[in-house]
Amino acid sequence: MKVQRLLILLSIAAIVAGCGSPDQVKRQTLSLIPEPVHKQVNQGQFQLTPETSIVVDEGNAELEELGEFLAKLINSATWYSLEVTTSASNENSIRLTIDDEGSYQNKEAYILTSDEEGVTIQSPSAQGVFYGVQTLRQLLPPEIEHTDPSLTPQDVEWMVPAVEIDDYPRFTYRGMHLDVARHFFPVEFVKKYIDILAMYKMNRFHWHLTEDQGWRIEIEQYPRLTEVGAWRDSTLVGHYGSGIYDGERYGGYYTQEEIREVVEYARDRYVTIIPEIEMPGHSSAALAAYPQFGCREDGDYQVQTTWGIFEDIYCPREETFKFLEDVLTETMELFPSEYIHIGGDEAPKAQWEESEVAQQVIQREGLEDEHELQSYFITRMERFLNEHGRQIIGWDEILEGGLAPNATVMSWRGIEGGIAAARQGHDVVMTPTSHVYLDYYQADPQTEPLAIGGFTTLKKTYSFEPVPDVLNEEEAQHVLGAQGNVWTEYIKSPDKAEYMAYPRAMAIAELDWTPKSKKNFTLFWRRLQNHFKRFDIMDINAAEHYRGTMPVLNNE
Ligand code: ACM
Repeated sequence: MKVQRLLILLSIAAIVAGCGSPDQVKRQTLSLIPEPVHKQVNQGQFQLTPETSIVVDEGNAELEELGEFLAKLINSATWYSLEVTTSASNENSIRLTIDDEGSYQNKEAYILTSDEEGVTIQSPSAQGVFYGVQTLRQLLPPEIEHTDPSLTPQDVEWMVPAVEIDDYPRFTYRGMHLDVARHFFPVEFVKKYIDILAMYKMNRFHWHLTEDQGWRIEIEQYPRLTEVGAWRDSTLVGHYGSGIYDGERYGGYYTQEEIREVVEYARDRYVTIIPEIEMPGHSSAALAAYPQFGCREDGDYQVQTTWGIFEDIYCPREETFKFLEDVLTETMELFPSEYIHIGGDEAPKAQWEESEVAQQVIQREGLEDEHELQSYFITRMERFLNEHGRQIIGWDEILEGGLAPNATVMSWRGIEGGIAAARQGHDVVMTPTSHVYLDYYQADPQTEPLAIGGFTTLKKTYSFEPVPDVLNEEEAQHVLGAQGNVWTEYIKSPDKAEYMAYPRAMAIAELDWTPKSKKNFTLFWRRLQNHFKRFDIMDINAAEHYRGTMPVLNNE
C-alpha cells in the first residue's frame, strides 16, 4: 500500500510538473500583435544559446543586413554574439531565407517554423523576412527588448515555442502619422516612433512637416522657411479659446542631413516615409517667411500661435507654383517615397474670393468657383509630381471641385470621402476621426490629460473596419489600408505622444494586418499584456487603461 501511495504521489507530482510552471504554460500562449493569419503551436521549444548561428542566403546583402539586425537585437539583451553566416547548419540555427518557389499570398508574406533544432523564416522578399524576424522577437520573452544586457535579469531563458506560422498582411498600406509642426519632436523620438511602427509590421510613416504654426523641413533654396517659418513667438496655453499665451519663442526644424538619416533608418525597417507639404491652406508659416506667395495685399502674415483653421492661403500666381515646385523638388530628393502628401484640407476660400489674382485665374481657366480653383491648384501640383514619377495623396477635401486624375485620397472626415473616391476608381487610405485620430481622448476626459476632444477608446479603434460594406468588390480593392493620426496641438512632449499613440496604434497595426475574421478584441487585450512588459523595458509611455485587467473568457 505504501508503495502504491508513493506511486500515486509521484504521478501527481509528475502531472503537476508536466503542466509546468506558470511560465512554461504562458510560453505556449502566443502573444503576437498583429495576430497572424495561421498559427499552430507544437510540442517543445527552441533554446537560443551563445552558439546559435544566424544563417542567411549566400550573396544576399539585404538578408545579411537583416541577420545583423537580429544579431544586434539579441546581443543588446543577452550579451550573446551570434554569428551571421552563409554556411548552412541544421542545428541550433536561425535561418533567414528567400523562397522563390513557394506560393505566398503577397510579397510581404512569410512563414516561420520553429522546433527544438532551430527557427526558419522564409519569404518571397526580404521585407517578409523582416516581418518574420519581428514575429520571432515577439515569440521570445519580453526581456529581449532590453538594449543594455546588464539590465536583463540573469535568469531569463531564451526560449522560442515550437510553432508553424503562415502569415501575410491584409492591406498594403499600414500607417501611422505624426504632426511635428504644432509641436516639434526630435530626431531620436521620430526614430523610436518608426522602430515601434516596424515592430508591429506597419510600413508607412506619414510625416506632417508643414503647418500654420511651424515649417519643419529645411529647404535650401528658401532659407527663410526655417529661419522665419520654423519659429513662433508664443503658444496657446490650455484649451482652444483660453486666450492665455505662454509668450515663449518656440520652434525647431530638421536639417536635410537629419532627414536623410531618418529616411535611411526607416528604409532599414521597411518603412516608407511619406512627407506632407501642406497646400493651399495651412500655410501661414510659409507665408510669414515669403509673403509674396500669398493673396493678402498687406502681406501681414505670422507663424500662428494658436490652433484652428486660418484663412491664409497660397495665391495661384505662377511665382507661387514655381516656389512650390522648388520645395517639392527638394522634398523628392530627400524622400524616395512614391507618394508625396500635398495636404489639401481645411483651406478656406475667403482670401481667394477677395483676390484679383485668384479671380483672374478662375476666369482664365473657365472655372466655376473657388473649389474648382483648389482642384486646378492640386491638379497642377499632381502633374508636376507625376512628371517626376511620383503620386499625390491628399486629405478628402481634394474631392471638392473635382479630384486630380491620379490622386489617392486620405479619408479623414469619416469614411464618406473614401467611399466617393473608391467609387471614382481612386485609391483610398482610411483615417476617420471617429476611430483612428489618436489625439482624441481614450478615456474619461475628467481624468485624462488635456486632449483635443472626442472619445476613442482602444476598443473603438480596434473595431474599425477599413472597407465600408457599401463598396462592391472592385471598389473595395481601392482601399489600401488604414492609418492612425497623431495631431499634436495638445501634445507637447514625446511622453505624451506615446501616451496618446500606444496602445491604440497596436490596434491599428492589427486591423491593418490581420484578417477580419481573426480579429477579436478580448484576445487582443490579453495578448497586449505581454506587450506592456515590452513597453516598460523599451521606455514607452503607453496608456495603461487596459493593463492588468485581464478579461475572463467564457470558455475558460
Ligand atoms: C485634418 O485632420 N485636418 C486632416
